[in-house]
Amino acid sequence: MIKTSANQLKINHYYNADLYLDKNFLLLPIDMQFTQDIADNLKRWNIRFVYSNNELQEISEEDRVAPLSLTSSITAGVEEQQGKQRAEIFFRKSLEFINILFRDFRNNEKLNLNSVSDKIKDIIKEVKTDPVYVLRLASLPSFDHDYMVTHATKTTILSIALGDKMKLPQHKLVELGISCLFHEIGLLKLPERLYNGTGAINDDEKKALSTHTILSFRILKTLNVSRDVLLGVLEHHERENSSGYPQKLPGHKISLFGKIIAIACSFDAQISDRPFRKGKDAHTSLLNMMQQIGTMYDDKLIKSLVGLLTIYPLGCYVQMDNGAIARSINYNPDNPTFPILQQITTTANSVLTERPIFSLSEDNSSQVKKVLSYSEAVDFEEKHKIS
Ligand SMILES: [Fe+2]
Repeated sequence: MIKTSANQLKINHYYNADLYLDKNFLLLPIDMQFTQDIADNLKRWNIRFVYSNNELQEISEEDRVAPLSLTSSITAGVEEQQGKQRAEIFFRKSLEFINILFRDFRNNEKLNLNSVSDKIKDIIKEVKTDPVYVLRLASLPSFDHDYMVTHATKTTILSIALGDKMKLPQHKLVELGISCLFHEIGLLKLPERLYNGTGAINDDEKKALSTHTILSFRILKTLNVSRDVLLGVLEHHERENSSGYPQKLPGHKISLFGKIIAIACSFDAQISDRPFRKGKDAHTSLLNMMQQIGTMYDDKLIKSLVGLLTIYPLGCYVQMDNGAIARSINYNPDNPTFPILQQITTTANSVLTERPIFSLSEDNSSQVKKVLSYSEAVDFEEKHKIS
């Protein structure tokens, strides 16, 4: 391939060949304009050279063929920034809404379902518009709100995404969102040290804690909600092998809402930092849950969760078996176990200025050895000044 300095590429020009970042990764198809955004991204990523199959020549606007509807990966980088920001603003607003809702319930036991339905419709819209970014936020361990608020926010997003994957119609997604938002509301009737304390709790206290599904059910029953909403709340601790509570239902008797909320709730409980322990990384949590298919969780729904988050959730860092560190940057829609990665360091752990992008595959010589935990990832970014 022919190597060309990125500095030689002219803004708003077209070229006579596809431009590549390396021998596999297409930067800019022949019919797309080299834009300022792409140039800025090349600089930001410290990419100094591009590659092509022919000697590069500029082509005039008149000579070029009609543009195809292809999106370059670099442009996708800009879109990613915008999508991320949009999702973050939305996520913070949702946290604030739920914070006020729970605060009012704590103070005067009132719940306004009208405003809740509107909020759930907003969440459905966001999940359908920006699933990658909003799910990435829902996979983070902590936020500056208490656990009840962050848990309700993240699980509602995850449940709606799962329901959407199950092709539930809009009105069922709204019901699912309401059910999930309130699935732990009964906890607010119990002493806070039971569900938010730092100390160990005894058997009697555990028993008291397990009444929260019935308490949530009773609270929701006073409102004008459907049977499915009530079952979702009541059954979110039931398990496929009848080991759950309160009714020890077997899998085939657990409602769909109960099964979906169980998965969203368990996943979030595993990844979340709590006063008494650190959360697990999303990858490890997914693996744990996959091992409990059939015994604890519904097979189809766990596979949907993995499909949504991918087995290497976007943004996570992995260590390859040759020692290099890479980051998961995109989905492989054909197989979530083989994500698209960007190599960040050499095998000797020095940060690369040109960071090749590659797709993991079965016959790839290099495989993922481990996923960095959330705290390891934060340390890694701080140490190497990576944002
Ligand atoms: Fe619960």
